[in-house]
Amino acid sequence: MNQLETLGAEHDREGFDCGVEALNNYLRQVARQHAQRGISRVFVLVEDDSPAPKPVLGFFSLAACEAESEELPASLGRKLPRKIPAVRLGRLAVHREHQGQGIGKDLVLLALKKTAEGAALVGVAGLFVDAKDASVAQFYEKFGFVALPDQPLTLFLPVQTLLQTVAAMGFE
Ligand SMILES: CC(C)(COP(=O)(O)OP(=O)(O)OC[C@H]1O[C@@H](n2cnc3c(N)ncnc32)[C@H](O)[C@@H]1OP(=O)(O)O)[C@@H](O)C(=O)NCCC(=O)NCCS
Repeated sequence: MNQLETLGAEHDREGFDCGVEALNNYLRQVARQHAQRGISRVFVLVEDDSPAPKPVLGFFSLAACEAESEELPASLGRKLPRKIPAVRLGRLAVHREHQGQGIGKDLVLLALKKTAEGAALVGVAGLFVDAKDASVAQFYEKFGFVALPDQPLTLFLPVQTLLQTVAAMGFE
């Protein structure tokens, strides 16, 4: 079984390789600093019995953000105020040895669950994500994310859809 943990000193950041150097460097050099300063929350997926340094199967980061509702597709932005509070799924990656095994999908669903937990405490209109290319944008569209009309690599998942997905997954 795999489990989600908050990134800490016990995780093997150096050994992580998703094939995208910018994402590897983020986990190795930036993620802990941002987490310690409270500006991001970084979660890592590990095997639940692995000793430290624990190999990282995949990770994602979440942070609060503010967006303009006029950037959303008209059907989603119409009833919202001009500025909306939201969450940004900043980075998400799977170790290349474990890609294609469903871990990316698990991480997105876990990110939705974490966002739902946050949305129970503070107002959140939805979850934004920046895809690095059109292929990855399609990956996110499978979860109901919708591309912004003028920024096709930035996608948005309205909180109502997010909560329905979390409820359907049987997450508490
Ligand atoms: C993109 C990434 C997160 C996907 O994770 P993964 O564990 O390989 O994906 P999964 O095995 O969970 O696949 C889930 C679904 O997404 C699809 N998918 C996976 N990678 C995809 C990609 N790059 N483009 C389009 N679809 C993709 C799979 O075919 C699968 O579809 P299905 O449910 O219809 O069978 C992973 O390959 C990765 O870390 N790549 C390098 C870093 C990166 O690009 N991160 C995204 C930053 S924007």
